[in-house]
Amino acid sequence: MPSTPVWFMRQAGRSLPEYRAARAGTPMLDACAQPDLITEFTLQPLRRYAVDAAILFSDIVVPLKAIGVGIDIAPGIGPVVENPIRSEPDLARLRNLEPGDVPFVTEAVTALVAELGDKPLIGFAGGPFTLASYLVDGGPSKSFDRTKSLMYGNPKLWNALLTRLTDITIAFLGLQVAAGARAVQLFDSWAGTISPEDYRRSVLPHSRRIFEALAPTGVPRIHFGVGTSELLGLLGEAGADVVGVDWRIPLDEAARRVEPGKALQGNLDPAILLAPWEVVEARAREVIERGRTAEGHIFNLGHGVLPDTDPGVLARLTDLVHEESVRLAR
Ligand code: CP3
Repeated sequence: MPSTPVWFMRQAGRSLPEYRAARAGTPMLDACAQPDLITEFTLQPLRRYAVDAAILFSDIVVPLKAIGVGIDIAPGIGPVVENPIRSEPDLARLRNLEPGDVPFVTEAVTALVAELGDKPLIGFAGGPFTLASYLVDGGPSKSFDRTKSLMYGNPKLWNALLTRLTDITIAFLGLQVAAGARAVQLFDSWAGTISPEDYRRSVLPHSRRIFEALAPTGVPRIHFGVGTSELLGLLGEAGADVVGVDWRIPLDEAARRVEPGKALQGNLDPAILLAPWEVVEARAREVIERGRTAEGHIFNLGHGVLPDTDPGVLARLTDLVHEESVRLAR
């Protein structure tokens, strides 16, 4: 009886002492451009946890930096853009991505696939709304004022921007799959900040183009966002095989909100891992049970591992998911 597969968003980095030690002194985006570091950081969590997949160590802004956008990841803050994109002429700074812009990604994926054997490597990219939010607002934002005002007020420029970002994303995911990534996740982390109607009108057509472009490769496509309870059906409709679910909605309810044929991924609140083990165990069991009502379930957190998480708890949780899911299936 196969157990429920499990991996963790942000399993590579942040919470691991060996990650902090090896990263010390290297800016995040420099680390993302060095194949040996990418490979090491991708493999680190696999030495501790019996997870069923590796996630490529990279960042959603890597392809933007690679085409020359002035962007950096400020420690403790996130991506910061030198000259935000807010007008038609600004778009000229977004040229398409060629594989030659990110040889370090191809090299790292190739090395990882050789190293991982049967264990799949998950490639990823940022979703159109989330990438646009950093480029337009200029950095992390709580209310996405400028991004949303562009989306509402200038649909022509918005669609031109998302079309460019979508082309870049198709190229970025395509080269990861070509080098051997066996699944992809589109992180449209902040898409949950808009309404279903606006998502359908202003974002979904672009995400759909990404998933359609990947369809011929046959790799499973995961679509994730935070605060997306009202968007789950649309995230699936965009063409994903697996819909990521955060902790705000139980998986059995999420299963009712997606079309038939979609698997779910999620959805333990990452903050639960800071509670005593008895709590983690009880809540994880509940997620596994509810996940059984979906057409397929990949256990994950509802968002990334928090930096203060004890890696020992993640190791124990991974084993629990495997054991408990087999027990329930008997
Ligand atoms: O498992 C993994 O860690 C895989 C690699 C990965 C990173 N970023 C490395 C990273 C992945 C999949 C991402 C995706 C990403 N990056 C997203 C989508 C996922 C999500 O969390 O919703 C977003 C929005 C970003 C942009 C980003 N990068 C932010 C907001 C931050 C700063 C806040 C933070 O989480 O620390 C980053 C930096 C970043 N990306 C770090 C890592 C390991 C921390 C940098 C460091 O260690 O100094």
